[in-house]
Amino acid sequence: MVLSSIETYRVNSLNKEMNVSKKKIKVLFVFGTRPEAIKMAPVIKECQKNKSKFKSIVCVTAQHRQMLDQVLNLFSIKPDYDLNIMTKKQSLPKLNAKMLVGVSDVIEKSGPDIMVVQGDTTTTYAAAQAAFYAKVPVAHIEAGLRTYDKGSPFPEEVNRCLTSVLSEIHLAPTEMARKNLLRENYDNSSVFVVGNTVIDALKSVQIKHKKLNIKSKWERWFLKNFDFDLSKKSTTILVTGHRRESFGKGFMNICKALGDLAKNNKHIQIIYPVHLNPNVQKPAYEILGDVANIHLISPLDYEPFVFLMNRAKLILTDSGGVQEEGPSFGIPVLVMRDTSERMEGVKAGSAKLVGTHAKSITSQVQKLLDNSIEYKKMSKVVNPYGDGKASQRIMKIIDGYFRRKKHDK
Ligand code: UD1
Ligand code: UDP
Repeated sequence: MVLSSIETYRVNSLNKEMNVSKKKIKVLFVFGTRPEAIKMAPVIKECQKNKSKFKSIVCVTAQHRQMLDQVLNLFSIKPDYDLNIMTKKQSLPKLNAKMLVGVSDVIEKSGPDIMVVQGDTTTTYAAAQAAFYAKVPVAHIEAGLRTYDKGSPFPEEVNRCLTSVLSEIHLAPTEMARKNLLRENYDNSSVFVVGNTVIDALKSVQIKHKKLNIKSKWERWFLKNFDFDLSKKSTTILVTGHRRESFGKGFMNICKALGDLAKNNKHIQIIYPVHLNPNVQKPAYEILGDVANIHLISPLDYEPFVFLMNRAKLILTDSGGVQEEGPSFGIPVLVMRDTSERMEGVKAGSAKLVGTHAKSITSQVQKLLDNSIEYKKMSKVVNPYGDGKASQRIMKIIDGYFRRKKHDK
């Protein structure tokens, strides 16, 4: 999970060999959705710590609005540029076109030395494309995730492949991701294993919870705002879901499975912060809105969501980020997808792919509810996705990249 020793040596020796440049490196961070913001926040903070070396410029496309603002508020990030692009039921072509033009303008105004993008959203791809046209190098965080199926996840698999093509620095979260990139013939010297920055974000929240004894604050907050009880960990199933390829039939199946589980297990409570995408809101509220032991709630701020993950007996999700976070708590994660680009958790035994068929979802959940041996097998604390220091490594690598460029001149 760490920078390989050869890469560490290379960055360190470059740092030593060269004089520190007087000119600050202008780093343009571009992101637009909730998960990108969570995963980018610790990197921006790390960049801003080193004011003598870097000048950070933050541009949000606001592909998400409310769910993005939740994260910006939590981490006190004030964007220098806000393209405010989100509209209800936005289409992929319109999103892409608006962002390509919007980010290109920001590049022209701000003149960055490098752009940093994260993940595989339409923001990620469009921003990288804008940087390419402007001949600005791109550092891609969370590079190398692959299912090798263009339709799953859609459109993320293609977004991340195209972003790799457009990037100079590939910041892979795991060894598995690095291998994917090398198999695709990316130069070994441009690929770094740094860990996933989501673990940096998660740890920062956990440290805050520990230090200030905030746990009791969130316990009281949940009690005040909702009619469910989080004191008994054994009864809570946490659900999130939003994948485009599941819209329609897949989502109906997921909702049916949740309804059946709730009906057959009156002692459990299902807590589901419903994603704001109308393709998710509609079936979720129509099918599950009246089920007594299913609690549909608005998307939570990251801090209470972390608290809730920690209180869950198991997590049912199709989210990328939640698949990475769940194992840190030793909580089994059942992934409602047929494929995953995050097989590290599955290999470690803390996650399982259960597809989107109602029967398969209910039978796998029921097994974990009824069989304590099966449950124990999946509930070990493993952390294949990072150690909380990815952001530090990333900023060191970006620094090394410019030192090397200067050296090569
Ligand atoms: C997007 C990303 C997906 C990522 C997910 C994280 C693409 C194509 N999809 O999917 O990769 O995993 O975010 O959540 O890049 N909406 C709001 N308020 C918000 C956010 C969304 O109302 O704060 C509604 C709007 O009606 C919007 C719709 O959700 O039009 C869809 O948002 P969009 O970003 O296009 O797709 P997501 O499903 O959120
Ligand atoms: N999350 C959150 N509030 C919620 C649900 C999720 O803060 O109500 C966080 C979660 O901890 C994870 C991220 O949002 O870090 C995942 O976002 P999402 O599932 O929307 O996107 P994906 O990771 O699938 O791209």
